[in-house]
Amino acid sequence: MELKTAVVTGASSGIGAATARHLAREGYRVLCVARRADRIQALADEIGGMAVPCDITDEDQVQTLAQTVGDQLDLLVNNAGGAVGLEPVGEADLDAWETMYRVNVLGTAQVTKTLLPALEAARGTIVFVTSTAADGGYEGGAGYCGAKAAERAIVETMRLELFDKPVRITEICPGMVHTDEFSLTRFHGDQAKADKVYAGVAEPLVADDVADAITWMATRPRHVNIDRMTIRPRAQAAQFKVFRES
Ligand SMILES: NC(=O)c1ccc[n+]([C@@H]2O[C@H](COP(=O)([O-])OP(=O)(O)OC[C@H]3O[C@@H](n4cnc5c(N)ncnc54)[C@H](OP(=O)(O)O)[C@@H]3O)[C@@H](O)[C@H]2O)c1
Repeated sequence: MELKTAVVTGASSGIGAATARHLAREGYRVLCVARRADRIQALADEIGGMAVPCDITDEDQVQTLAQTVGDQLDLLVNNAGGAVGLEPVGEADLDAWETMYRVNVLGTAQVTKTLLPALEAARGTIVFVTSTAADGGYEGGAGYCGAKAAERAIVETMRLELFDKPVRITEICPGMVHTDEFSLTRFHGDQAKADKVYAGVAEPLVADDVADAITWMATRPRHVNIDRMTIRPRAQAAQFKVFRES
């Protein structure tokens, strides 16, 4: 049987790396995409995949990714993204907003539109990793919530536009996931601030939990479209209603 091929963006850490590992265990040949070439090369060596260094906000690099993919692609996991900053709008760093929009929205759109013909040819699936931040605003979150809401708009629009095409358009919205880098990036490398996000949460979600859900979504029978899955740790009843033991 021919191997199915998956592209996972943001595969150099966190949810993306875990998803690449889960998909490889399911028998996919995984193209691991991110900017840090050393990390994705190590991952590709581990799982028998392929490293494709690529900044998804760079059109030329995404074109090169498409050439590497070729004519057929079974699965695209649009995972690259993240948050920068947690300031109120009155103190917003708009350069950080631009960075968030460039990667979560424009980069994701660039990858998606460029790989769409190969996905259509293979009757493929797209999984967008948005966030519960797309559900509505929270204090300090306007830039990130807006970017993730815009990413969700791509999902909702594409599902309508492609209703008569054999491509599944799905979305997973994680709540709090304790990954090594998400909060570190958000707080510009301040480890103490990053640790505080998860302090006292006995069992936060980890990257493997989200990877497991993505893999489940992608491996449903072809006629089953998981439109949107929200996944949170049990301790998180709502965005800021989190049970902390200490
Ligand atoms: N952790 C959470 O609580 C949480 C919750 C909801 C949603 N999410 C979403 O889940 C996704 C993964 O988050 P995570 O927690 O795994 O964070 P992470 O470890 O910081 O992963 C982010 C990934 O995106 C890649 N990336 C960033 N900019 C890129 C660019 N321009 N081109 C290519 N790759 C780029 C990074 O790789 P390089 O730096 O090597 O390029 C990295 O692999 C993100 O979209 C995030 O918004 C996370």
